[in-house]
Amino acid sequence: MENWYKIAQEVQNIKNGDSFEVELLGIRLCVSKFKDEFGVIDNVCLHKGALLSKGFLTKDGFLECPLHRWNFHFKSGCFFHGGEGQKAYPTKVENQSLYVLMETDL
Ligand code: FES
Repeated sequence: MENWYKIAQEVQNIKNGDSFEVELLGIRLCVSKFKDEFGVIDNVCLHKGALLSKGFLTKDGFLECPLHRWNFHFKSGCFFHGGEGQKAYPTKVENQSLYVLMETDL
């Protein structure tokens, strides 16, 4: 079953280019804002487990991993040169709050 979960509020105060971690249902998520859009992807890098939220967002909207500099799109999670990378989650903003769609067994 899928549910929308609120993961941030007053999102107008989040700056473009910011990334931060939110833990939800035991999953570490990387939340990013780029050009007024939000993206949520897995925070633990599939390569060797560094946290993407500790990296930085490039001018093209890719999160650069702090350890070996692999790049993943902030919203799709895809690699810089294409191909499936980090798992990505749908998002929506309602009443200045950010929600993410996650699957739950409940
Ligand atoms: S741990 Fe992320 S690129 Fe190696």
